[in-house]
Amino acid sequence: MTTEQKAITINQLRKTFKTRHGFWKRTTRVTEAVQDVNFDVERGELFGLLGPNGAGKTTTVKMLATLLIPTSGTISIFGQDITQHTNEIRKRIGFTFGGARGLYGRLTASENLRYFAELYALPPEVTRKRIPELLELVGLSTRGDDKVETYSSGMQQRLHLARALLHDPELIYLDEPTVGIDPVGARELRATIKNLKAMGKTILLTTHYMAEADELCDRIAIINNGRIIALDTPSALKNRITADTVIELKTSLEHLPALKTLLDQLDPLTSVTYTQNTHEEAVSIHTVQPGTVIELLSPWLNTDLVHNMEMRNQTLEDVYINIIQGDGK
Ligand SMILES: Nc1ncnc2c1ncn2[C@@H]1O[C@H](COP(=O)(O)OP(=O)(O)OP(=O)(O)O)[C@@H](O)[C@H]1O
Ligand SMILES: [Mg+2]
Repeated sequence: MTTEQKAITINQLRKTFKTRHGFWKRTTRVTEAVQDVNFDVERGELFGLLGPNGAGKTTTVKMLATLLIPTSGTISIFGQDITQHTNEIRKRIGFTFGGARGLYGRLTASENLRYFAELYALPPEVTRKRIPELLELVGLSTRGDDKVETYSSGMQQRLHLARALLHDPELIYLDEPTVGIDPVGARELRATIKNLKAMGKTILLTTHYMAEADELCDRIAIINNGRIIALDTPSALKNRITADTVIELKTSLEHLPALKTLLDQLDPLTSVTYTQNTHEEAVSIHTVQPGTVIELLSPWLNTDLVHNMEMRNQTLEDVYINIIQGDGK
């Protein structure tokens, strides 16, 4: 496939931030926010970028949106270099950033959209038709004439999406689009995102909700400390860990060493992850031999060593945690 057929091509992308600290601002701190990132997004693809806080997701998306200049590396959007064709590319992309500001509280939702439509130099007849369609798409049609300062944060988030879609972009970046949105609203928003994909849009999405990424994305890149550490379809990622059953149990902190000794007897292929809370340790055992694990643990069930035990299928979240915890080890 030639680069013209790709929506996004990223080559050796880096972004280094230098910030000054201290009373005289004499100390310089260098943050390698994005280091040597390479990936392509196909036209019409819904691509997910996942990673922990500070991993470099927003920095990457901002570079793709022409809002930040890369320290080095290249980005092509629809085959065009982003630094040489910035204005043309801007017309073809739309974006929202989680918790973003930039709406005018004193104006109604419709007035906000009309204002941004003028900025994009959209013809008034297009705007007239488009605004009610977009308000409908994001579920705000009954509130279009209310001032945005009276909106809840989830409603503002939806309006941001409508704004991002005003000029009918082919490529859409959604940085944590469902953050702060209630479960019903988030489900509706996911349906909207699927709709956009069905309309042929290319979408790059960041999220901390693994189930959301699993449901929506064709492919997922996992980024950690500014580097891509995994890139695949959700199902291929889930198959990465051979184990397909997860047994979850809880133990008290004081009994954890004894439990660890017990679990050391298991097949080395079994991976065990420990998640600490204040009083309890949640233990997830990923195994292809659930029978063996249950046999080993059942004598201890409902004792101090093993509080309740549950069995379930592996989720993308399990795989994500496994990949992130395994990075750099
Ligand atoms: N303008 C800036 N100046 C200095 N450092 C920055 C700036 N923007 C981001 N960084 C740093 O770059 C790194 C990556 O930040 P980024 O916002 O890209 O992370 P993220 O993956 O989007 O995280 P989150 O999930 O919390 O949104 C962090 O260490 C952050 O502190
Ligand atoms: Mg971010």
